[in-house]
Amino acid sequence: MNWVVLVGSVRKGSFNAALARALGGLAPDGVSIEILPSVAEMPIYDGDIEAAGFPGQVSAVGARILAADALIIVTAEYNYSIPGGLKNALDWLSRLKERPLKGKPTLIQSASPSTMGGARAQYHLRQVLVALDALVMNVPEVMVAQAHTKVADGALTDPATRDFVAGQLSAFHAFVRKAKAGEAAEA
Ligand code: FNR
Repeated sequence: MNWVVLVGSVRKGSFNAALARALGGLAPDGVSIEILPSVAEMPIYDGDIEAAGFPGQVSAVGARILAADALIIVTAEYNYSIPGGLKNALDWLSRLKERPLKGKPTLIQSASPSTMGGARAQYHLRQVLVALDALVMNVPEVMVAQAHTKVADGALTDPATRDFVAGQLSAFHAFVRKAKAGEAAEA
């Protein structure tokens, strides 16, 4: 299985990017995980740009999500919501006629130095994903609180957090397999 990851922070030292990079080593056997290009590569959504043709970065990310078995979104929280760059990427992706997130098994994670771990951004993200008709797993949730104490040198080092994330990925694996089995039965 191939899962792809969209990261909702673009800074170099991002805790969320560190979490995203850890996923490959924590995923169940037989799952490969690839991080998608930065959301910073997409221009600000503009209907005039769309009318002239989708930017290559948008089409490329959309094609990779469409081809993947599942999507993981790892996001920072800005002012109780998702960062504008991630919202912009989702706005672009929602415009593709292939609708790459429609029915796509999707997992949400967040990391923040706060004690809330980005929980409020997760619930805003869930709301946006309703519009894109993504198939979002509800539980277990992963919110990495006090992320600055759990990441060192760009790596997720905290053993308890690594175990917790691995458990969520295992639950998500079952969720993805169930979704695919349902699709196969319908076909
Ligand atoms: C933040 N931060 C933040 N944290 C949080 O838990 N809730 C919040 O509402 C906000 N709001 C917020 C707004 C803005 C504009 C910035 C720049 C930051 C702090 C944020 O969690 C912190 O900067 C993280 O380090 C961002 O994630 P990355 O970049 O480390 O992945």
